[in-house]
Amino acid sequence: MLPFLYRRVLKPILFRFDPEAVHDAFVSLGEFLGRSGVGRGLVSSLYGYRGPDASVTVDGLRYRTPVVLAAGFDYNGRLLRILPTMGFGGVEVGSVTALPTPGNEPPRMRRMVRSRAIVVNKGLMNEGVEVISPRLAQTLAPSDFVVGVSIARSNREEAATEAGGIEDYARSLETLVQEDVGDFYTINISCPNVHGGENFAEPERLRKLLRRLGQVEHDRPVYAKMPINPPWEAFRRMGDVIEEAGLHGLVIGNLNKDYESALHQDEAPDSFQGGLSGLPCRERSTELVARSREAWGQRFTLIGCGGILSAEDALDKFRAGADLVHLISGMIFTGPHLMGEIAEAWAREIREGRLAASRGATGSRSSSSSK
Ligand SMILES: Cc1cc2nc3c(=O)[nH]c(=O)nc-3n(C[C@H](O)[C@H](O)[C@H](O)COP(=O)(O)O)c2cc1C
Repeated sequence: MLPFLYRRVLKPILFRFDPEAVHDAFVSLGEFLGRSGVGRGLVSSLYGYRGPDASVTVDGLRYRTPVVLAAGFDYNGRLLRILPTMGFGGVEVGSVTALPTPGNEPPRMRRMVRSRAIVVNKGLMNEGVEVISPRLAQTLAPSDFVVGVSIARSNREEAATEAGGIEDYARSLETLVQEDVGDFYTINISCPNVHGGENFAEPERLRKLLRRLGQVEHDRPVYAKMPINPPWEAFRRMGDVIEEAGLHGLVIGNLNKDYESALHQDEAPDSFQGGLSGLPCRERSTELVARSREAWGQRFTLIGCGGILSAEDALDKFRAGADLVHLISGMIFTGPHLMGEIAEAWAREIREGRLAASRGATGSRSSSSSK
């Protein structure tokens, strides 16, 4: 019933409006509903996960389900109270930057409906770590709901140099650590919207960045958000640098910058800027998860992200070797029932032995944290 109502009633209405306006309205509504028990109960009665145990422990963090809201939706950290009632096991807040970032000129998002993709050109819009960190510190989320924070370089002139960029990332991490905020951190080295400047996906620069961030003392897992467009050899070199720096894992991956990969070019904006989410990310991200599992074995936690539009798409990521999945576009194109469907499918596959519990036991399945 809920999938039908979303597909036939709600989505056609929402898709008549500007995507950013719809996003902003949903964030305000979600924040409002999250403030009261009644609001949370209402959303939970519609979208709460009530299937068999789908909890999983990864790098010492217990997720109520293996489905996490990817970076870029709750970029100011306002939805911590409502997301646990929607089948999510966690959220990656951000990307957060050291300096408040106003973002690119609108339009910052455009739907390609038949291509099931969003053209994203947000320019890392967020209120900045000094505002977001205290907000996260003050918001109580359930203990089995994991709150990670994605850190990116401020999309501003001041952070465009190599040294300026490194210190900018470090300032965000230091602020979060000082305020004791975030269950894990993700270093976004792959945001396609950053204001010119040096690219931290380049191995030598990446090494310097990770060395500096490694000087910030804390005991949280750290992941790197990977680009999906580089050829495998370049991806592998980045992974080797990340391994050498002792990070816990990889989020694979970010938006697709290959605009030709959208199914229906006639839906494209006159000129592309930014990257594509959704379906154009699906095959490549799954392939990179599989190749990464093969290349680094159990050394890395792998988080599959990109084009998960059905429970089967998520299972493909798990079969390829993912420990968790992150998503945004599926919630928009398929509907908010998707997270519960994925959790249920995952729990069933684990129980029936069709998904290898390669990184721990079933049920409260745990993955090695001895990285
Ligand atoms: C509106 C929007 C904003 C995004 N902003 C960020 C961001 O700030 N940081 C980041 O690491 N990824 C960002 N992403 C990328 C997503 O985290 C994810 O990698 C990508 O959308 C692929 O997943 P999906 O197909 O499930 O949407 C954004 C995606 C969307 C749709």
